[in-house]
Amino acid sequence: MTDTDEAAPAGRGQEAAPLLEVRDLRVEFRTRDGVAQAVNGVSYRVAAGQTLAVLGESGSGKSVTAQAVMGILDSPPGFVTGGEVLFQGRDLLTLGREERRKVRGAKMAMIFQDALSSLNPVLSVGAQLGEMFQVHEGMSRKEARGRSIDLMERVGIPAARARVNDYPHQFSGGMRQRIMIAMALALAPDLIIADEPTTALDVTVQAQVMDLLAELQREYRMGLILITHDLGVVADVADTIAVMYAGRIVETAPVHRLYKAPAHPYTRGLLESIPRLDHKGRELYAIKGLPPNLTAIPPGCPFNPRCPLARDICVTDRPPLYDVGPGRTSACHFWKETLDGAR
Ligand SMILES: Nc1ncnc2c1ncn2[C@@H]1O[C@H](COP(=O)(O)OP(=O)(O)OP(=O)(O)O)[C@@H](O)[C@H]1O
Ligand code: SF4
Ligand SMILES: [Mg+2]
Repeated sequence: MTDTDEAAPAGRGQEAAPLLEVRDLRVEFRTRDGVAQAVNGVSYRVAAGQTLAVLGESGSGKSVTAQAVMGILDSPPGFVTGGEVLFQGRDLLTLGREERRKVRGAKMAMIFQDALSSLNPVLSVGAQLGEMFQVHEGMSRKEARGRSIDLMERVGIPAARARVNDYPHQFSGGMRQRIMIAMALALAPDLIIADEPTTALDVTVQAQVMDLLAELQREYRMGLILITHDLGVVADVADTIAVMYAGRIVETAPVHRLYKAPAHPYTRGLLESIPRLDHKGRELYAIKGLPPNLTAIPPGCPFNPRCPLARDICVTDRPPLYDVGPGRTSACHFWKETLDGAR
């Protein structure tokens, strides 16, 4: 920990105006089983050159938030019911479909977990990459092919020139994920959202792909939102972490501060459930219970049925997101005790 951390809590790329600012975003799914409140007032910022990791258990609203930001929400049944998505100063939620598509094509890109279902199985990877250059940058076929090979080399595909005409299924999982990264990078976007980009890969390959993504993010000075449920993955690559629970952000902090001393009991539970080499042989902690049903989120703190620190007030009063330190927030009535207990 250095003083620089204190001075720049939002990370190395912090600028006056953020690249992306999400304000009080709300999304619900209207289904036959009721209305699921999937995103309940999420706010976050990402600056150019900065990585924000979004963390939380399955169903906490990480992907739905990203889909609403990208404009690819499954609607119906999903509806954005409030908030703003300011990208380079413009609220994307007020744009028409065509304008939105243009922003998505050229300025923001998304990387998904499963490259095989995101790439077109009947087109060679060279054709898929090349098409982006032909359509968006008006290149000739030959030029586009050259650029595709360059990009494949840049993301570490061996023998790119020989493999440019291969189809997605002819590549290994790790190589396919590199191709997805190449597709996302093709038009030099300002923001990339990577949703569990390495979850489907072997552990050793996961690290390589994550390192590549982090390296390219720095080189291109992009904003990166990295969605994951794996706290172990983000320590080295993220500047800031936002922890989500039941469609809300419950804690945000510069990465090293959050690891050292979490200010929310849920974050502490997540941290204690990571396997650590120095704790070998100790039983791994798991947060007991399940997240709430999103059609009936309990009053008070949504985490109260599972929280070891819960008291009466937690059942009746919903904690706001308190400012708890430089660049830090926590939605816990007892954030101070939690923070002190962690030190
Ligand atoms: N297509 C859909 N139809 C109905 N409800 C949906 C749909 N997609 C998401 N939801 C609701 O939104 C909630 C949040 O989903 P989301 O995909 O954002 O979770 P997540 O945090 O990304 O989880 P995971 O780690 O499993 O990817 C789900 O629990 C579900 O209730
Ligand atoms: S507000 Fe109460 S229930 Fe919620 S996390 Fe804090 S101590 Fe636990
Ligand atoms: Mg998800």
